[in-house]
Amino acid sequence: MTFVVTDACVKCKFTDCVNVCPVDCFHEGEFMLVINPDSCIDCGVCEPECPVDAIRPESPELLIWAERGREYSQKWPVITASKKPLPDADKHRDETGKFEKYIEDETDLR
Ligand code: SF4
Ligand code: F3S
Repeated sequence: MTFVVTDACVKCKFTDCVNVCPVDCFHEGEFMLVINPDSCIDCGVCEPECPVDAIRPESPELLIWAERGREYSQKWPVITASKKPLPDADKHRDETGKFEKYIEDETDLR
């Protein structure tokens, strides 16, 4: 099992999560972060750090997010220190379905 970053992170990227990960699992894309499932040791300390509850334990319902984590962690750089959230993070924090809404062409992420 691993932890996964889900839709709530999209267009927000608060990045509080990256400061606590003991094994630098987080990778940064333009719109969101992902967790590398191969390096995550399942400690769970990142989960309560996210102000929008974007981080969840892997489950069958979240399979798409686990797959995205696996794929994009191979392509995006590691992020190890928090930074400013995206400019409109507060505007987007309560929105749902952001990945489908804003990332029209997933190939742009690759
Ligand atoms: Fe890092 Fe632990 Fe979160 Fe995995 S569960 S991403 S090891 S802080
Ligand atoms: Fe995203 Fe939450 Fe981390 S918004 S960057 S998963 S603190």
